[in-house]
Amino acid sequence: MIQQVGNYYMLHTEHTTYGFRVMESGHLEHLYYGRRITVEDGEAPEALAEKFAAVPGNTNGYSEEYPALTLEDVRLEMSSYGKGDVREPFVEAVHGDGSVTSDFLFAKAELLPGKEKYRTLPGSYGEPGQVGHLCVTLADRQYGLELELHYYVYAECDVIARSARLCNRSGDPVRLLRLMSAQVDFDTSDYVFTTFTGAWAREMEKTAIRVQAGKYVNASYTGTSSNRANPFVMLSRPETSEDFGDCYGFHLIYSGNHYEAVEVSSFGKLRFVSGISPQSFCYLLAPGEDFESPEAVMAYSWEGFNGMSQRMHRFVREHIVRGEWKRKVRPVLLNSWEAAYFDIDEERLLRLARAGKEAGAELFVMDDGWFGTRDDDTQSLGDWQADRRKLPGGVAGISRKIREMGLAFGIWVEPEMVNVRSRLYREHPDWVLQIPGKPHSEGRSQRILDLTRKEVQDFVIEAMGRVFSSGEISYVKWDMNRTFTDYFSGGLDAGRQGEVAHRYVLGLYRCMEELTGRFPQILFEGCCAGGNRFDLGILCYFPQIWASDNTDALCRAQIQTGYSYGYPMSVLGAHVSACPNHQTMRTAPLRTRFHVACFGIFGYECDLTEMDGEELEQIKEQIAWYKEWREVLQTGEFYRGRTFSDGGGSCLSQRKGNILEWTCVSADREKAVGMLMQKLAVPNTRTETYHAKGLDAGARYRFASAGGGGESCAAYGDALMYGGVKLRQAFCGNGRQEGTRLFPDFASELYCMEKEKGKK
Ligand code: GLA
Repeated sequence: MIQQVGNYYMLHTEHTTYGFRVMESGHLEHLYYGRRITVEDGEAPEALAEKFAAVPGNTNGYSEEYPALTLEDVRLEMSSYGKGDVREPFVEAVHGDGSVTSDFLFAKAELLPGKEKYRTLPGSYGEPGQVGHLCVTLADRQYGLELELHYYVYAECDVIARSARLCNRSGDPVRLLRLMSAQVDFDTSDYVFTTFTGAWAREMEKTAIRVQAGKYVNASYTGTSSNRANPFVMLSRPETSEDFGDCYGFHLIYSGNHYEAVEVSSFGKLRFVSGISPQSFCYLLAPGEDFESPEAVMAYSWEGFNGMSQRMHRFVREHIVRGEWKRKVRPVLLNSWEAAYFDIDEERLLRLARAGKEAGAELFVMDDGWFGTRDDDTQSLGDWQADRRKLPGGVAGISRKIREMGLAFGIWVEPEMVNVRSRLYREHPDWVLQIPGKPHSEGRSQRILDLTRKEVQDFVIEAMGRVFSSGEISYVKWDMNRTFTDYFSGGLDAGRQGEVAHRYVLGLYRCMEELTGRFPQILFEGCCAGGNRFDLGILCYFPQIWASDNTDALCRAQIQTGYSYGYPMSVLGAHVSACPNHQTMRTAPLRTRFHVACFGIFGYECDLTEMDGEELEQIKEQIAWYKEWREVLQTGEFYRGRTFSDGGGSCLSQRKGNILEWTCVSADREKAVGMLMQKLAVPNTRTETYHAKGLDAGARYRFASAGGGGESCAAYGDALMYGGVKLRQAFCGNGRQEGTRLFPDFASELYCMEKEKGKK
């Protein structure tokens, strides 16, 4: 609900309020973002507004008319350089006369019906009635620029999305150096900034920094949203925990270079900005042209990190993920990559698929190695014809045989890339991002196709269209395996090279839009060397993304916990792989590998033909159990309990950071699945406790180990949540073997909870 009271604009979701006002000077003062507050119609909430008496020492008065106003010490909805504010700006542009000073003042505000589609970028969506839209237009009258600030209110998810559009209404070209998506100025600086950084196979490492002074930046310049710094970040209070306290979550619906900064001003206020990274960004706006910034997504909760995460999860599932697969149950998959790598042929794939079918898998995915002469990663990207040495009947032949086995068929592609050793490169050496005549820095022996060019986008659309219709294809894994270097497009002149990174993303979105539109029945999974492009932009087209090439259960538990702060588990691909694990060489029990993977979009990625009978039997049971419970896991509400990043103490003497608890509860709270996992066995301890979350406190549940054999009881939801369930744990020590230790290193337990029939 959007409420206007005079110059005050109050955006209410079910449980939160966001407010700003137009000041006498024409600037927008940010008033409040937090727990929902009541504002009477006709009664402006003046108490929230700053009262100006005099400017602080050594700052500048805004104008002769407003000498007591210094823009350096006001909470602003958007900020620019040159009129007194020296903090991170929202917009920065070089005008026709070379100046960089801008001053945007209120022109008009409009309430618009629903959410319109962006011209250039993907965005959130909502049915009419689900989303409110406020557009505030500001004008820089000195330089003829117009800035639209768009606010989208998703009341039932407690989410507000923001974006901006800058229009050049002057007679001169303008060089845009930055246009952010969100700016939120907080009154105090006592916040913790949490980011999710990492590298290949180490995605989403959570780091919390207590902000006290200066500036902290989370940004990517890899050309993708990146595993180095995911665009999802949080601001919380020092005392905030998983279930209590203020927490703000911020997302950006964008897949390229991004930037999130927090800055504490000299006057103790905290500014947060997020948007496209300004690094090396320069976009030329001719007279009459405009530029759209991606949507930023904001969620607030006073119920801790879990409260905020659940709001984000609901928003991503309802207003980002779309298409035929939005609500469809996802199939159990078997992927060929870690089973065979490049060493595939039809016979081997069919053997693998048959073993998958026997175990209960529903979808078989042929990963890399099937096209051109792709015997390793140095060749053939770009040559999207089946390698007849390996697949005599082509994609049509193998997909038909897999279908006949009763499995759906999926295929791997990496459409945005080309190897120098390929026909495509030989024919179109100018179709890549590289600087003509200069040495090129190579990644995985491949180069990036120049998707800023329309003819290259057309090639990708045409080539992929041919692959996707070359057989009975139900699933596509769309990969992208390198980061950008040598940013340069031969299709743009010198003055426009600062646009390459952004134009690439726009070109990619066009390809994805066309192909998902033409093949709506296909389940697309995004991938970027694992999680190097895990963001809401991709999720606007593909309903799931491969979370990490690291399938080690211990690492995966941590990586998936990291993602869960900003993303629902129902969008992240998670597979059981072989041990010793190919990334860490660690051996974890098969059941732990399964317990961790089944919380995501679940599958296997190992050579089932090599497994012994006992393991295959276990896998069969796992898949059978999963099919029974997957609806809870794929559509339920996810809660974190203790996590491996809970700080303090060594795991030898203290158990902090040694235990992980996850719970997923069905929307009607009839059923839940819980997991407790341990990093390392702790000597001389007797028991551990699992605490459920999110249950109906007053209802009685049957609680049992998945697959039977472990703990089993009936208890009220409150007892399971607040008291927990003590787990059996036999003791061994002092050389006495008093039974087997039930909880060794990397052990886990999986629990099913179901409301008792006839009870409340
Ligand atoms: C990337 C992906 C893997 C696999 C390989 C194939 O690394 O993340 O899952 O598909 O490419 O080359």
